[in-house]
Amino acid sequence: MNYNEAYDKLDRIGQTQLLKYYEELDQAQKEALLKQIDETDFSVIDYISQGEHGAKKGVITPLECMELPEIEANKERYTQIGIDAIAHNKVGAVLLAGGMGTRLGSDNPKGMYDIGLTHEVFIFERLIENTFDVIRAANEATGRDDIWIPFYIMTSEKNNDATIAFFEEKNYFGYNKDHVYFFKQDMAPATDRDGKVYLEGKGRIATSPNGNAGWFKSLVNAGLLDGVHEQGIEYLNIFAVDNVLQRIADPAFVGACIERGVEAGAKVVAKAAPDEAIGVMCLEDGRPSIVEYYEMTDEIMHAKNDKGMPAYRFGVILNYLFKVSALEEILSKDLPMHVVEKMIPHLDENGELIKPDKPNGFKFEQLVLDMIHQMRSCLPYEVVREREFAPIKNKTGIDSVESARELCKKNGIEL
Ligand code: UTP
Repeated sequence: MNYNEAYDKLDRIGQTQLLKYYEELDQAQKEALLKQIDETDFSVIDYISQGEHGAKKGVITPLECMELPEIEANKERYTQIGIDAIAHNKVGAVLLAGGMGTRLGSDNPKGMYDIGLTHEVFIFERLIENTFDVIRAANEATGRDDIWIPFYIMTSEKNNDATIAFFEEKNYFGYNKDHVYFFKQDMAPATDRDGKVYLEGKGRIATSPNGNAGWFKSLVNAGLLDGVHEQGIEYLNIFAVDNVLQRIADPAFVGACIERGVEAGAKVVAKAAPDEAIGVMCLEDGRPSIVEYYEMTDEIMHAKNDKGMPAYRFGVILNYLFKVSALEEILSKDLPMHVVEKMIPHLDENGELIKPDKPNGFKFEQLVLDMIHQMRSCLPYEVVREREFAPIKNKTGIDSVESARELCKKNGIEL
């Protein structure tokens, strides 16, 4: 794309401010900017005026959850089924690590954050350790020593190189790197509150990762699907980077989903309070779905089921199991777009880089929870919050490094 073509593309959508510093750039920077303008899909900006496309909900009814007593009663059988699937290489793990982690406020990828107190304990390290627990259990149960769980890591353009370099430097925390696969997710432009796309450098449009729902498309675009098939992987367990107690490829969870024959499973915890900021599992127009906490009406919050319990009591913790064949079926389907207020570093009118400390514009994200609604079935599977849910979103307070450290301590993890 040459300058005139780029100008025309931007002029049609009222975004020519992106060429403000063009004449100050050297040749390589000019080419890079024109390439970025060519490749960027600006159509997402229309969602600002259309409102929160993701918020349109259908008829919400309760979805029965597999609760702790039922799991306990069948644990041995579910675990056996899960271990068997893992031993046959049918289960892959997918770490969603493409986010910017702006609330934590570190310049490095979130997984590089050290939560240790007396020695280094990196978030990535905890996740690898948690996966090792299952690998060890599967090897022990089968008398083998060659079982691994294929481990996929989604990064973004912003943190890919740093993430790979870190894993290399740490020798994959002992994981067999032949079973680790990195892939990058796509980016979307970020705008101010009037929908004008920001510049993050004189020759660079401000972009941010396009949400965690793009993971399967990005995995496919990275050419990894053939490998998934060749290895015989039938289920992918996706999970967030920030939960240091995350159980990965949990055999009992996998086994329960396989026995129930569902297309997806979701680990859930009982909500701490009716208004806790956590999305709840439900049926929407008869299909599995998640109502986000900010979409919750009073009616949903206080509804009771026939046992007199809150009808929407179980919240998701961003740990889902998907059947690969079901993911392939929805590959070409569109997901809702969420317009999210975020803090976006950008150049001000004097060309100075500003790093805001409160939201100053919009990012455009598709969310993995919307993929659940595209599944024909999903099993909500209850887990004990204190054992499996220690998210790190902030430095202090709720869902923070502090609260996660406390929970690690309670679970006997030395920090
Ligand atoms: P969050 O919604 O907590 O977002 O992501 P974040 O970007 O990490 O943090 P903030 O909001 O900027 O503070 C939940 C999970 O989804 C992943 C994150 O890495 C995390 O594991 N994610 C999020 C992606 O992989 N890609 C995205 O575009 C967004």
